[in-house]
Amino acid sequence: MASQAKYQQLRRDGDAIALRHIRARITEGLRENDILQVLLETPYQDTGQTMDEPLVLTESLQMLVAGNQTSSNALTWIFYLLARHPKYIREIRDEVVAVIGENAIDYQNLHQLEGTVRVIDEAMRLFPPFWMIDRVALKTDEIGGIHIPAGVMVIPYIYGTHRNPAQWEDVETFDPRRFERGRSKERHPFAFIPFGGGPRLCLGANLAVMQILMIVVAFVRHYDFTLANDEPVAIQPKMLLQPQSAVIMNFQAAKHT
Ligand code: HEM
Repeated sequence: MASQAKYQQLRRDGDAIALRHIRARITEGLRENDILQVLLETPYQDTGQTMDEPLVLTESLQMLVAGNQTSSNALTWIFYLLARHPKYIREIRDEVVAVIGENAIDYQNLHQLEGTVRVIDEAMRLFPPFWMIDRVALKTDEIGGIHIPAGVMVIPYIYGTHRNPAQWEDVETFDPRRFERGRSKERHPFAFIPFGGGPRLCLGANLAVMQILMIVVAFVRHYDFTLANDEPVAIQPKMLLQPQSAVIMNFQAAKHT
């Protein structure tokens, strides 16, 4: 109970901080080019009304919570896998030189980094930050011979789906070539679901990939990195698929920079 009360209090404190920002935006008449502004100003298509304050608060916190640790968790595993497979650090660096050169990263050139995206996808196949999601059956159904009564919660198991040998060869092997163009036809459309699927697909999927790309490019452009410890890092499935221990790495300036 004590910890319940503690978490409720933390929740109230978090709400109060977010609410201060939301109210300041409205009362001070500030207009920013960000998601909060979109939430405040976009009218619903059916009613023509904008969101009321409690809804803006809930939606803002949802974005913060859903969009924060998920991307950093994905980045941890990406850097871990890159350090274990330095060939891909070099491949990404070559691609960045070929596509971006010395220019700044922008929306256009980021989208041409196909090899880098393949590495990100393969890392999220092996270590999907959300390793499971939940659904409630609206009506009675049957999946693979299993009876699902209406109202029952079903947990799509992302981690298992990404290592299903019926869909993937050598499931444990880190091999970004699986994501080469055209090869998705080899598997079920829902064989790769790091961002979920269907109408409730992650709202921030494109933003997340863009953020991750920018961070990977910024590091790989200038640094080589190795793991401080060669032991494989075990997973610790909490709400996110966390590493069981800290992933400690050494960074050094890349030779050619
Ligand atoms: C690597 C980073 C991320 C991963 C792996 C991830 C994964 C997911 C997954 C698996 C779901 C559930 C989808 C489903 O039930 O089918 C989800 C939902 C959601 N995500 Fe993400 N996410 C990431 C980043 C973000 C970011 C950056 C944002 C926002 C800025 C975001 C916002 C949301 C929201 C609002 C939902 C709920 C959508 C709904 O229920 O309609 N996510 N995400």
